[in-house]
Amino acid sequence: MTSGSSAHDVILVWQDGQEGSDEREERLSVGEDEIVLTAAECAGVALPFGCRTGACATCTGKLLDGRIEHARPPRALKERHREAGYVLLCIAEPRSDCRIVVGSSVQAELVSNPWQ
Ligand code: FES
Repeated sequence: MTSGSSAHDVILVWQDGQEGSDEREERLSVGEDEIVLTAAECAGVALPFGCRTGACATCTGKLLDGRIEHARPPRALKERHREAGYVLLCIAEPRSDCRIVVGSSVQAELVSNPWQ
């Protein structure tokens, strides 16, 4: 959480249920210079993560709406993944209000098809 003036509403969406039936959402207030994963932890929201440096993709989310910038190069994402809206929450800073699909099923999308 932040009390800064440039905080954005970041809505995290879990879509782990069949056809989204178990969809759950959490709303966070995240500052422009704050990392989404860290803000979630401060709010008591558990997200998957590994390296915390943008190298392993465990923390991958998919941006539905809004703008995210990575605080360092997102090495775990290929160019086409970034173009498709995937973001690494361990190095993600919001630049607007955002909606992001999160949870381990998002990373599975990246690796489910080896030819992607
Ligand atoms: S935790 Fe490894 S890329 Fe984010």
